[in-house]
Amino acid sequence: MKKIKKYLKKNLTKERYQHTLGVAYTATAMAMKYNPDTTNSDFIKKAELAGLLHDCAKNMDNGKKIRICDKNNISYTSIEAENTFLLHGKVGAHIAKSKFGIEDDDILNAIIWHTTGRPEMSTLEKIIFIADYIEPSRKPIPDLDYIRKLAFEDLDMAMRAILVNTINYLQKSNKPFDPMTQKTYDSYNNV
Ligand SMILES: [Fe+2]
Ligand SMILES: [Fe+2]
Repeated sequence: MKKIKKYLKKNLTKERYQHTLGVAYTATAMAMKYNPDTTNSDFIKKAELAGLLHDCAKNMDNGKKIRICDKNNISYTSIEAENTFLLHGKVGAHIAKSKFGIEDDDILNAIIWHTTGRPEMSTLEKIIFIADYIEPSRKPIPDLDYIRKLAFEDLDMAMRAILVNTINYLQKSNKPFDPMTQKTYDSYNNV
């Protein structure tokens, strides 16, 4: 944990580091609530690790992200190549594995999918996706405090509320978005 924090402090902006600590803290609290096995705290530790590492490649130079993908056979879409910020999940998971020896697929997937989500997410994946949105230092966004409350009541309802907000925001601001965000949205809203 110390080694990871040292790396993050060095490689992230001050604001991103603060956000990262907020996500780790929030994910830890959520994992306490949703721990599937209350005879041990493995799940809680996993949530803390995934929270700490989810944005570890966020401030990386765009060219470097592409180079890491190419070198390690990490595939990416043309949309990701044009909007390399979309790659920070995949590259982040690679760093988690290669630099910090994280082998747990659930942690790695939570890092990979934290930006777009995906249909049929695991509990840990949902926790990181939601914690990323609601952590304490987040700038105020519509319904934020309602979603914060939902996050500790019903994960799927919180997912739905975040996805509705995200799609609305992306459409309004004409920002390019990954088709996976739409897929995730559809999977949570066509039920
Ligand atoms: Fe991120
Ligand atoms: Fe984040």
